[in-house]
Amino acid sequence: MSAILMVFFSQSGTTARVAESIAFGLRASGHRVDLCNIKHGYPKSIAGYDMIGIGSPAYYFRPSMNITDYVNSLPSLNEMSNFVFVLYGTYPGDTGNAIREALRMKGAREVGYFKCRGADLYQGYLKAGYLFSPDNPLKDELSQAEEFAAKVSGIMAGQTYTRPEPDPPPTIIYRLERFFTNRWLIKTIYSRLFHLDKQKCTACGVCMMQCPTNNISANNEGQPVWSRNCLLCLSCEMNCPQEAITSPASWPLFKPVFIYNVTRASRDSSLDYVRVKHTKGRTTRV
Ligand SMILES: Cc1cc2nc3c(=O)[nH]c(=O)nc-3n(C[C@H](O)[C@H](O)[C@H](O)COP(=O)(O)O)c2cc1C
Repeated sequence: MSAILMVFFSQSGTTARVAESIAFGLRASGHRVDLCNIKHGYPKSIAGYDMIGIGSPAYYFRPSMNITDYVNSLPSLNEMSNFVFVLYGTYPGDTGNAIREALRMKGAREVGYFKCRGADLYQGYLKAGYLFSPDNPLKDELSQAEEFAAKVSGIMAGQTYTRPEPDPPPTIIYRLERFFTNRWLIKTIYSRLFHLDKQKCTACGVCMMQCPTNNISANNEGQPVWSRNCLLCLSCEMNCPQEAITSPASWPLFKPVFIYNVTRASRDSSLDYVRVKHTKGRTTRV
């Protein structure tokens, strides 16, 4: 029996569901598994574990920044076994590549890589009227996650592992989008430019509760104030029942980007989508 730590970030729940299916499969093979969604804090330590699994949603064609930070914070992994799992709504880009490479650089030994679609609750796409991969992960994909766990277990027991090739890199347009959502711009510039309509804001606190990094605090009136630890997940804007929040991603400047993305993805026959309306923090299918 091995002790396995699975660390992941899940904001809207799909990565968590896949993590639970993988954990279920690993436990069925007799392993002890601890799960940690880092939006509730980092795990205390990796000491005492034989294997680490890292899971991330694709955020702007790369891992979410909090997962990158967590992986970078790990000590040298000295041949510790690892696996990676990635959730994505349309195109994952370098999400898996980046985590796999970072773990390799830490000295970990990969024993599995799993990728799966997850409902794409991205504010920009919802506002444009599209929800991609609307019902994912599907039952089949959760079963595949369990099968993946059984394979990982077999490799731990001595079966041969053939490392999957890296995913294809994002196209030039997506690399440009990634540039415009880089860490420096998000933390130094965009995080200061969230706009609040003070007349509309009722100080309900939804934005603060939704923020996965506790980046939003309340001023004297109970209205939100943003600090610099932003992931540009847009949960605050997306869930605001009064539509009082406007993030830089909603600037008219970026509208053509969303139009390009949803047009391209909606024409891709390998992707599912439904048309939606997103108003007052709620998404309804139309
Ligand atoms: C801020 C943000 C950026 C995203 N960027 C991408 C992306 O670049 N490529 C992609 O395929 N999906 C992207 N997605 C979709 C998520 O990867 C996908 O919905 C994932 O299942 C969400 O995981 P969660 O439910 O565990 O939070 C993005 C979603 C958000 C909120």
